[in-house]
Amino acid sequence: MTFTIDTYAVIGDPVAQSKSPLIHKLFAQQSTQILDYLKIHATMDTLAKTIDDFCDQGGKGLNITAPFKLAAMQLVDKLTDNAKQAGAINTIIINQNGSRLGENTDGIGLVRDITINHSYSFTNKHILLLGAGGAAKGILPHLLNQQPASLTIINRTLSKAEQLIATQQTQISLHAYDYSKLHDLAQTYDLILNATSASLHRQTLTLPKSIINTNTFCYDLSYAEKPTLFLQWCQQQGARYCIDGKGMLVEQAAESFYLWRGIRPDTQSIIKKL
Ligand code: ATR
Repeated sequence: MTFTIDTYAVIGDPVAQSKSPLIHKLFAQQSTQILDYLKIHATMDTLAKTIDDFCDQGGKGLNITAPFKLAAMQLVDKLTDNAKQAGAINTIIINQNGSRLGENTDGIGLVRDITINHSYSFTNKHILLLGAGGAAKGILPHLLNQQPASLTIINRTLSKAEQLIATQQTQISLHAYDYSKLHDLAQTYDLILNATSASLHRQTLTLPKSIINTNTFCYDLSYAEKPTLFLQWCQQQGARYCIDGKGMLVEQAAESFYLWRGIRPDTQSIIKKL
């Protein structure tokens, strides 16, 4: 069976909770494009065949979500430089001849949300990045491009944070510590980004009060109906700017849509609708 209209999909495990179909259908409505967008469940064992089948049916593009962002890199023909640097993909562009290009739009989505939707500038700011997994790796080069004064990565497993900063080519002052060192440092940051998966699993991070003040811009890459535990903690410390990852979700989707359709959707109205 082949698709009769331009068809896209998100592949994940689980995937039922994904808001990507809703977001892309709203983008399509807004720009009067005719397309379909599906949710497809896969497992590590079925991922390769699921992608092959989707391409065989004439699918035009895919979003890849957890836990396949690393594995899917092996299932494309080519990667953009940005995807190579990020070490993970969230978007596949399927060309007319069936060849597949892997890209990662998470970093650009985050930066657009913070700088455009929240009018916040990273320039000369001291950034604290919590986590050194796939999400942190994907956004790191984009954060450094924004010319902050310094960037400190905190991770439970210190070696992962150290490895991550060792691979960056930048003049910006970079540090890697574990949580206990963060308590000793007693430094306050302008911007704190939570890129750990702790929020997803409803786990708390043990953070010292010294890192935050009322002007600290606090951002959780995750989102939920209620503020995440990290954002609740930031609010309790009096931080005035506490933002979840909904805007980033819409912005990374808009970037995928642009790569597939050549049209950049208006994201503000969609973020409001969500
Ligand atoms: P993702 O793709 O979402 O980044 P990941 O690559 O598994 O997922 O990385 C998860 C990140 O969250 C890691 O930095 C992890 O720390 P470790 O490298 O030490 O495992 C971090 N993380 C997850 N749960 C955490 C918790 N309860 N406290 C602190 N860090 C946590």
